[in-house]
Amino acid sequence: MSKILVIGGTGFIGSHVVSRLARDGHVLSVPTRLRQRARDLLLLPTVDVVEADIHDDAILDGLVAGCDAVVNLVGVLHSRPGNPYGPDFARAHVALPRRILDACYKAGIRRLVHMSALGAMPDAPSEYLRSKSAGEEVLVAARTRIDATVLRPSVVFGPDDRFLNLFATLNRWFPVLFLGCSKAKFQPVHVDDVAECVARCIADCDSIHRCYDLCGPNVYTLRELVAFAGAASGHPRPVIGLSDGLAYFQAWAMEWMPKKLLSRDNLRSMRVPSVSSAGFPFGIVPQVLVATAPAWLGSKANQSHYDDFRGRAGR
Ligand SMILES: NC(=O)c1ccc[n+]([C@@H]2O[C@H](COP(=O)([O-])OP(=O)(O)OC[C@H]3O[C@@H](n4cnc5c(N)ncnc54)[C@H](OP(=O)(O)O)[C@@H]3O)[C@@H](O)[C@H]2O)c1
Repeated sequence: MSKILVIGGTGFIGSHVVSRLARDGHVLSVPTRLRQRARDLLLLPTVDVVEADIHDDAILDGLVAGCDAVVNLVGVLHSRPGNPYGPDFARAHVALPRRILDACYKAGIRRLVHMSALGAMPDAPSEYLRSKSAGEEVLVAARTRIDATVLRPSVVFGPDDRFLNLFATLNRWFPVLFLGCSKAKFQPVHVDDVAECVARCIADCDSIHRCYDLCGPNVYTLRELVAFAGAASGHPRPVIGLSDGLAYFQAWAMEWMPKKLLSRDNLRSMRVPSVSSAGFPFGIVPQVLVATAPAWLGSKANQSHYDDFRGRAGR
């Protein structure tokens, strides 16, 4: 049993990682900007959710002190633009890993598991992927100071994801879907398989200084995934692929929405196939999307009329 700091532990992947690590009996500290967001984690007996500004060095030092390992899952999908990447990507994906590294060094902690993304490369077409690559570089350059493992998932799915669920919602709302980058390739991986992998990394010293691609067993195009989410949720709609020009115009328009669903940088990320031929590590057999997702996409569809009632009641 160890004491582990899980930074980014309140997010979609993070909450599954925290639950999985708690099952192994670890004592977990989970910082968040807003404690309320981590309601589900508050019920876990060995988990301490703390409201903290992880971008403050003194606070980060305090969080890291006394831990045996750190898991870093912080990631953002959107940033103000910049070259090679915007300031928000730089802060979350590059400066934060560097500061975590320094805090670990000061506290004498060596073990770190870091979540990157498949397709991260210094010369990737998107700022997101370039910044993720720079974050990995920070750890590679410090390999004498830190025992890091880097995980690089393709798109991650699960009952509470913002990927298939978003497509299911769009299928419900619109009679026809116009889709950019419809031929983009993904190899979706189940969130529980990712969480299992983090737990195995913590338990297995052989994973130190290793980098693992995390992919499900099958490759799908974006169009196939959108059509699947529509069919599985009971609202199959025609999906029409957009030309590159129209796709960029659509993404540009969506950047002006209060809640960004898609950006031009997201489209550029999709130009890199999010697939890998490396097998899943630790002998884990990854779950098949089309076998597992219909169970929750279908049941959510049955309950979707409650959302309509809630919306009309202003709740
Ligand atoms: N989901 C995927 O399909 C996917 C695919 C490939 C790679 N990844 C990577 O996996 C990691 C986790 O992804 P996710 O989908 O679980 O993300 P998520 O649900 O958006 O969660 C993000 C987490 O990071 C924290 N965070 C976000 N912005 C922050 C900021 N500016 N300052 C401090 N904390 C911040 C949030 O904490 P608060 O409680 O403070 O909000 C939250 O715990 C990320 O590094 C992501 O790039 C995800």
